[in-house]
Amino acid sequence: MEIKGKFAVITGGSGGIGLETAKLFFKEGAAGVAIVDYSKEGLQEAKESLMGNNALFIEADVSKAEEVKKFIDESMKAFGRIDVLFLNAGVEGVVKPMIEYPEEKFDQVIGVNVKGVWLGMKYGFPALKQGGGGSVIITSSVAGLRGTAQVSAYVASKHATIGLMRTGALEGAPDNIRVNSIHPSPVDNRMMRSLEDGFAPGAGEAVKEGFTKMIPLGRYADNDDIAQMALFLASDRSKFITGATMVVDGGFTA
Ligand SMILES: NC(=O)c1ccc[n+]([C@@H]2O[C@H](COP(=O)([O-])OP(=O)(O)OC[C@H]3O[C@@H](n4cnc5c(N)ncnc54)[C@H](O)[C@@H]3O)[C@@H](O)[C@H]2O)c1
Repeated sequence: MEIKGKFAVITGGSGGIGLETAKLFFKEGAAGVAIVDYSKEGLQEAKESLMGNNALFIEADVSKAEEVKKFIDESMKAFGRIDVLFLNAGVEGVVKPMIEYPEEKFDQVIGVNVKGVWLGMKYGFPALKQGGGGSVIITSSVAGLRGTAQVSAYVASKHATIGLMRTGALEGAPDNIRVNSIHPSPVDNRMMRSLEDGFAPGAGEAVKEGFTKMIPLGRYADNDDIAQMALFLASDRSKFITGATMVVDGGFTA
């Protein structure tokens, strides 16, 4: 029971990585998990698959301050404390070279992936502090560690989260708040299907094959590979780890 008795909040909680992590947290003894997402349908599906657990479902857009305040407040009201804040919501944007990339898409990706993480810490830190500290986990990407042509907004946003994570680690440490980021290589889920199709419309399988060849362990990650790292960072096993970029990539960046 890795996180027995802990209360967690997961943004993007009804997506591939978020929901898998919620299930793993419950399996490992979490006392309660708040699933935050802006997708009504996603939340409904999450509700069905988490039935029987002490789960809270909150519809909120992580890029809007009022809604971030709302999900922190509602989680505190329901649980009395937040021990783990998994800032995982993200959008991929579109696949286009910079000279064709729509400005409003750029703003949206930065709004969710960067401002969303910033707002999460801005309003989440005081709640974690009240409970004596905790763990903030940010889902970045291998796209935060190297460039990829045609996804400039996504790459920029995932690099930016490293800056936020490192600053958060320094600002949170006096209050026993640890902050780390996870850097997955391609994960076999909806977001990669969308990106594969963006790189080669109608021929996503070939793109997947190409990416797979770049991964020494010879496969995409699955949601559980990432959830296991989130569990480690949420648990006391990682109690001296803060400010770290945790790569989960089958050797992609080796
Ligand atoms: N899938 C991959 O290959 C991969 C690789 C590296 C990093 N990541 C990152 O992992 C995180 C989780 O993505 P995933 O792979 O589970 O994909 P996903 O699309 O299944 O999940 C993302 C979730 O975030 C939610 N979301 C998006 N914008 C939101 C907003 N403004 N407010 C609230 N919720 C919002 C979506 O509704 C969705 O449920 C993302 O940050 C993503 O960038 C994914």
